[in-house]
Amino acid sequence: MIKVLLKNHEIKNDIFELIRVFLPWEEIEILENETDTFKDGIFIISSLENFDGKLYSFTEVYRDDKLISRSEEDIESVNIYGDSIDKNVRIATKKSLYKALIKITDNEIPWGILTGIRPVKIVHELLNKGIEDEEIVRVLKEEYKLYDSKAKLILDIGKRQRVHIYPLNKDRFSLYISIPFCPTRCLYCSFPTLPLGRFQSYINEYVSKLIYEIRSIKDLMDGKEINTVYIGGGTPTAIPAREMEKIIQEIYNSFGEENIKEFTVEAGRPDTITEEYLKVLKSNKINRISINPQTMNNNTLKLIGRQHSAEDIIKTYNMAKEIDFPIINMDLIIGLPGEGVNDIQNTLREIRKLDPENLTVHTLSVKRGSKFRNTMEDYNLESQDTIGDMLNKTIEYSKDMGLIPYYLYRQKQILGNYENIGYAKPNMECIYNIAIMEEKETIIGAGMGAVSKVFFPDENRIERIPNFRDIIEYIERIDEQIIKKRNIFIDL
Ligand SMILES: C[S@@+](CC[C@H](N)C(=O)[O-])C[C@H]1O[C@@H](n2cnc3c(N)ncnc32)[C@H](O)[C@@H]1O
Ligand code: SF4
Repeated sequence: MIKVLLKNHEIKNDIFELIRVFLPWEEIEILENETDTFKDGIFIISSLENFDGKLYSFTEVYRDDKLISRSEEDIESVNIYGDSIDKNVRIATKKSLYKALIKITDNEIPWGILTGIRPVKIVHELLNKGIEDEEIVRVLKEEYKLYDSKAKLILDIGKRQRVHIYPLNKDRFSLYISIPFCPTRCLYCSFPTLPLGRFQSYINEYVSKLIYEIRSIKDLMDGKEINTVYIGGGTPTAIPAREMEKIIQEIYNSFGEENIKEFTVEAGRPDTITEEYLKVLKSNKINRISINPQTMNNNTLKLIGRQHSAEDIIKTYNMAKEIDFPIINMDLIIGLPGEGVNDIQNTLREIRKLDPENLTVHTLSVKRGSKFRNTMEDYNLESQDTIGDMLNKTIEYSKDMGLIPYYLYRQKQILGNYENIGYAKPNMECIYNIAIMEEKETIIGAGMGAVSKVFFPDENRIERIPNFRDIIEYIERIDEQIIKKRNIFIDL
């Protein structure tokens, strides 16, 4: 158990998350009052103090009541080109804590003090202020404590993304459609998905409510400009092709096929895909699909409950190529139980033969709500160094395949505190993925669990409107969700 006392500030979340990065499986308690005393375990005091008119952030760490580390950070020395003193205080508090955590754990972290999931946003903010590349790298390394490789990576990604983001347009939006059904639930998955075995009978009603919601979005977004459409899940292709076609046609009727710049359908698991199904997607002008191996090792596929083999992936991929989809994405996960560097190399060799236009490399995240979280003692998880070596292999092979990183995000409880990276062949980036990550465009979500994010460029802020995450609530309370979306636009 780690107890933390905050003095003269309330930077709770950042402190909690940064400690969790270094000590992922420890229980952490943030204390409200100073009178408690501690004799056992780790006790951290994070305080803000004024000396001779200057503000400092201090961190003291006690183990079994003995001081083992003391660090400080001068608030004035923080130089992140921020607009508020509060932000400088937050950064200095985290830097001071970071120093202490390095000392007590003897561990360094590639992402430094960053605990958020969208590090590229910092790059965009600095580029918007006209800061030069070299200075951006300095800010990332010295202020946020990133490794050199991570700092340069997110600078490159940010610069590559800008043509898809700027100039900002408050009337442009993308559409996300959620299809929450899946053939079975994978070991690591924490998404609110509905296995077909129990929920197949809901599909027809779900699709009719979804179509009703899409029509309401058409009215809501009248006069605005559609950018991209993404049908995700779950596994969208778990529903029959004729239901999928109805949804796609409704989208075309509502927003105009010719106006949509990119249309993705996640075909996800090959155990849901047939040649017939792919032909329906193709004849409905879908220009990007995902066929996701996660790994090309059959033992692991069995272990994670995917019900398809590496050979199925190859067969389905070749079928899709034959049918001539312009962009095929493949998702991989690094750090799956039992997998080491050789396994990843095997997966990458197989993927290289297929040569997809997009590749998305995730690092396993052990999330609450997944079967894995409850049974993880049964598996061996790799060390931070091995995960790092495996990720380096993905970088090496991607380069070899002519794939370039174009979006990046991090998740909580990600193994080794690494990241997820999307790669693309030149000019084949998924515009929707950039929009969802960088939050500079309105995204309207339809379907169970879909989250709409309305972007207000003048205030540089996003407002989230989540749909219900339960199928019955989604179906029965559809009008409430439509009204919630409408209310936001009434205020605009
Ligand atoms: C929303 S999921 C849906 C994809 C599709 N249903 C499938 O499984 O092929 C998108 C991707 O997130 C990744 N993912 C899901 N859960 C994860 C976890 N716990 N850790 C790391 N990556 C994860 C997988 O690579 C997955 O393909
Ligand atoms: S990983 Fe994909 S297929 Fe597996 S349960 Fe989650 S959403 Fe469904």
